[in-house]
Amino acid sequence: MSVGPKKMEFSRGELFDFHGVAMVEQFTKNWEKVQDFQARPDDILIATYPKAGTTWVSLILDLLHFGQTAPERQTSIPIHLRVPFLESTLLSKDGGLNVGTDVAENLTTSPRLIKTHCPVQFVPKSFWEQNCKIVYMARNAKDSMVSFFHFERMTMTQPDPGDWNSYFHRFMEGKMVFGSWYDHVNNWWKKTQTYSELHYMFYEDMIEDTGREIDKLCSFLGLTPSAKEKKQIMYGVQFDNMKKNDMTNYSTVITMDLNISPFMRKGKVGDWKNHFTVAQNEEFVEDYKKKMKDHTLQFRTEI
Ligand code: PPS
Repeated sequence: MSVGPKKMEFSRGELFDFHGVAMVEQFTKNWEKVQDFQARPDDILIATYPKAGTTWVSLILDLLHFGQTAPERQTSIPIHLRVPFLESTLLSKDGGLNVGTDVAENLTTSPRLIKTHCPVQFVPKSFWEQNCKIVYMARNAKDSMVSFFHFERMTMTQPDPGDWNSYFHRFMEGKMVFGSWYDHVNNWWKKTQTYSELHYMFYEDMIEDTGREIDKLCSFLGLTPSAKEKKQIMYGVQFDNMKKNDMTNYSTVITMDLNISPFMRKGKVGDWKNHFTVAQNEEFVEDYKKKMKDHTLQFRTEI
């Protein structure tokens, strides 16, 4: 069975060093416009290292802001157009280029919800100047690695992930699109000390108790959804419902071959156990201790 629209031929991106961070051209091609992007004070930036649950948080924020006032969005506009990916340049179905900054600039909604995978030092300065609210979602390294591996297998514009063992080592070396997971989560964590409009949350906490985490998010955003609204949101953002929903499962994106691996793949904490060998786990844990010196930042790899 084939899923999604007809696939075209794509060339897989190649990693190169971009101001000290491994990147592919898809995310640097529009760099000047990204850096000059004019944020508005009510913009909300959703920042993550890839595969941390960006789409999940995006849908929650979209529902919180527009679920009642513009419910038709949910069934007519794919999530990546409701929450544009700022630094991305992506081929669209008609062969044109979908440029994240253009999509963001053309949003007519307020607030604008904007997604980025940028390490903290790459965030356009206007977001800081305008004191925008930023939601950062982090996910433990082992599950991020596994999710990223499967994502790169099926996303035809990402570098070829190669075999699992070489991917495992590349991840530890930070030779990934958007650079090192370790630097990303640590540097964003450090930013919470100096920038108060930053809400740092964890994928594992969301899995453990989505309602509790939505409450925390609402108190950060100054929102007070009714009990009925919250119930609707909780239902809409369940993994199985997002997987079935063509507006959130990326079946409309032509660069992804969901027959190879679905975007909404497992949605679990601990799938790394199905991928890491015992020896790999030992090597990983040793290396992790050396890289993750700030013990105020703790991740759970099982719940
Ligand atoms: S991306 O491409 O970086 O924007 O991907 P991102 O959305 O950050 O991450 C995709 C992973 O998040 C999982 N996901 C969810 N898990 C639980 N519940 C819900 N509702 C949910 N929505 C997305 C998705 O399945 C990917 O993780 P894996 O481990 O690959 O399943």
